[in-house]
Amino acid sequence: MASAYKIQEHKFDMVVVGAGGAGLRATFGLAQKGLKTACITKVFPTRSHTVAAQGGISAALGNMGEDDWRYHFFDTVKGSDWLGDQDAIEYMCKEAIPAIIELEHQGVPFSRTDEGKIYQRPFGGMTTKYGEGPPAQRTCAAADRTGHAILHTLYQQSLAHDAQFFIEYFALDLIMDETGACRGVLALDMAEGTLHLFRAQGTVLATGGYGRAYFSATSAHTCTGDGGGMALRAGLGLQDMEFVQFHPTGIYGAGCLITEGVRGEGGILRNSNGERFMERYAPSVKDLAPRDMVSRSMTIEIREGRGVGEHKDHILLDLTHLGPEVIHEKLPGIAESARIFANVDVEKEPIPVIPTVHYNMGGIPTNYHGEVVQLKNGNPDAVVEGLYAIGEAACVSVHGANRLGSNSLLDLVVFGRAVANRCAETITPGGPHAKLPADACDEALARLDKLRNASGSTPTSVIRDKMQRTMQADAAVFRTGETLSDGVRKMREIHALFADVKVSDRSLIWNSDLIETYELSNLLSQALATIVSAENRTESRGAHAREDFPTRNDVEWQKHTLCYVDEKGTTSIDYRPVHNYTLTDDVAYVPPKERKY
Ligand code: FUM
Repeated sequence: MASAYKIQEHKFDMVVVGAGGAGLRATFGLAQKGLKTACITKVFPTRSHTVAAQGGISAALGNMGEDDWRYHFFDTVKGSDWLGDQDAIEYMCKEAIPAIIELEHQGVPFSRTDEGKIYQRPFGGMTTKYGEGPPAQRTCAAADRTGHAILHTLYQQSLAHDAQFFIEYFALDLIMDETGACRGVLALDMAEGTLHLFRAQGTVLATGGYGRAYFSATSAHTCTGDGGGMALRAGLGLQDMEFVQFHPTGIYGAGCLITEGVRGEGGILRNSNGERFMERYAPSVKDLAPRDMVSRSMTIEIREGRGVGEHKDHILLDLTHLGPEVIHEKLPGIAESARIFANVDVEKEPIPVIPTVHYNMGGIPTNYHGEVVQLKNGNPDAVVEGLYAIGEAACVSVHGANRLGSNSLLDLVVFGRAVANRCAETITPGGPHAKLPADACDEALARLDKLRNASGSTPTSVIRDKMQRTMQADAAVFRTGETLSDGVRKMREIHALFADVKVSDRSLIWNSDLIETYELSNLLSQALATIVSAENRTESRGAHAREDFPTRNDVEWQKHTLCYVDEKGTTSIDYRPVHNYTLTDDVAYVPPKERKY
């Protein structure tokens, strides 16, 4: 019986779920502001997926040529295909500069110019002079291991401040009260098999993306969107889930990331004729076009028979002309990955690559303070009391329909910092906790008990495989009404199959079978939200490319999708308006226009 479970209660001012870049930046920021803060994480902090980020973090520092945060703002709005909220984009691009200087002071070992400034490389879609000037060198890098460098520094900072870590704790469910406010989270200590209720004045979801809803992704196997899954179970809607980013250069077969920094350093994509085909698709910026365009161009090349390899099903990324010095100094990590995962010596041969799922633009809707917002009684920006979301788990929305490379590490740091600043203003250290009814955890416990004892006939891995293959085939780079409706039908059946899931291990101690089943249920609801939202949006915008609706339709579709999915897999859709206004007069609103590079 659910009531047989014992729960240990903890009281904090703030609890952060997740210890990647966003979670750690929030954790130490909150602790620094004097708020008693817990960080609970299912993996050791320095194993969080931020560690895999390679190419860099954007900020208009102007260390290697003229730049201005307003240019960065313009590029991000244009990159988002006018689905980004311009107030939030202004905030991110302006705050990028102090946030990076802070990181430098905190000890991030950035690569350096000869003058000793932070090294910056070009990245896709980053330009100068409002798109009229040459490509911007805006992406601050620590060789091609920038995420690793940042994550370790942020963890050191968290340890230097008085935050308390609960490591290898898996968040099961949010604890919401009858007013719809979040009062904390119920978690399982995976090693001990004990249950813990973290009561808090504020709960911050920093749980990352749900890339593992797909078969081939650059995301770690831990990227199962646990925050989004919990938010859906709490009855909240997720925003813009149809926008899934395919990174142009995942290693063919293995799916590992080969950074866009390779093209930033001069690497070139070639088809089976050896042609630099991006010249045809994006004549001015070529290989440094934004990711949605490059992934589509590669897919067209393959479809038209100019792919390489036995099956003509991938493309080559050539960096043989860069020379050993650039490779050793700027790209040592990808040289190693290419050797291990593609058996390629990048100084001598090109790397076989293919567009690979990399990032979720959609997520838990928030404002630029990191406060979760929902549509309530006609108010599209109604704040959910006590709940915050940051990083890839969130949809602020600064990336809109397509994120620019190197704006993700930035998003983590800027909004991790923003949530700490906001809570310092709104939350009283040591303040009272709202009363919780005695049965506050009953639903979460009943679910735990049900999954732990699930005695159906379909193993978790079988359902996961079906989901991943369906998403890969039917919610791909190019989509049609037919593939999407077929995909929706299949995903509904796969979601329903979860009722027949079989969990073999009944214990609570290090029960990876149970944890994978929780993760699967988080993935399933978000996969369904993704494909249902994609079928619903009858236009092409950013990463959502419909062959049956090839153009952007601002009149009908310049709006955010909100998708709700209940435990039974019933879905419904609503909308929030895009913020077509800036935060201050420091920068002008950019009206929609055709997106050409
Ligand atoms: O290509 C990369 O290094 C990835 C960067 C990003 O997704 O921002």
